Amino acid sequence: MKKIVAMCGSMREESNTNKLVKKAAEASGCDFELVELGRMSIKPCTGCSMCMMNEGQCPIDDDMQAVYDKLIEADGLIISGPTYFLDISGAVKDFIDRTMAIRYRGVGPEYNPDMPWLGNVPLADKPTVLIVTVAGGGHERAIESLKLAFDDCHKVNIVAQQAEPVGMNDVDDMPEVLQRAEETGKKLGAALQ
Ligand SMILES: Cc1cc2nc3c(=O)[nH]c(=O)nc-3n(C[C@H](O)[C@H](O)[C@H](O)COP(=O)(O)O)c2cc1C
Repeated sequence: MKKIVAMCGSMREESNTNKLVKKAAEASGCDFELVELGRMSIKPCTGCSMCMMNEGQCPIDDDMQAVYDKLIEADGLIISGPTYFLDISGAVKDFIDRTMAIRYRGVGPEYNPDMPWLGNVPLADKPTVLIVTVAGGGHERAIESLKLAFDDCHKVNIVAQQAEPVGMNDVDDMPEVLQRAEETGKKLGAALQ
């Protein structure tokens, strides 16, 4: 069975974002692993460039080390986060910045003779869905930020995206939002058939 890694981007347990991610993951019909940023310690990228010179190995010894392998080994991805100050949150940005190391795995002529500087782009073409929540406004930019990182940089295949204004509500009380998360998850499952 295909395996999805579902990044729950909120730092709050049982948050709206994380609930939608779980709903989508369950609806995908695939095996899935929830990776909850709120339960992990992921430090900011220091810009040391060691990953660039060391085949994508990041020297920061924290929970991101396990996440690298999970992302690379997954068949499909769910990437999510809440909207903070009209964009993705700092925790999600820290996670994204640290994924830069993945781009330096498999770089060189042996991996891509035509474009050795590009390498084999380990996350390329992985079916992926993006999920963002927001109280009222700013979600367009937040989802665009996720797209820029995972579509433009990591070259994943975005099969669905969902940005949900939820006000001050709990998504458990918003059946139409949960329904859309199910549809999002089914699209991911279909792409992984
Ligand atoms: C620091 C901070 C900044 C926020 N900025 C915005 C914002 O710019 N626009 C908005 O509509 N909601 C904003 N919110 C509300 C959250 O986007 C919203 O509650 C979201 O659903 C939280 O997701 P969660 O339940 O998964 O943690 C902000 C919340 C926090 C804590």
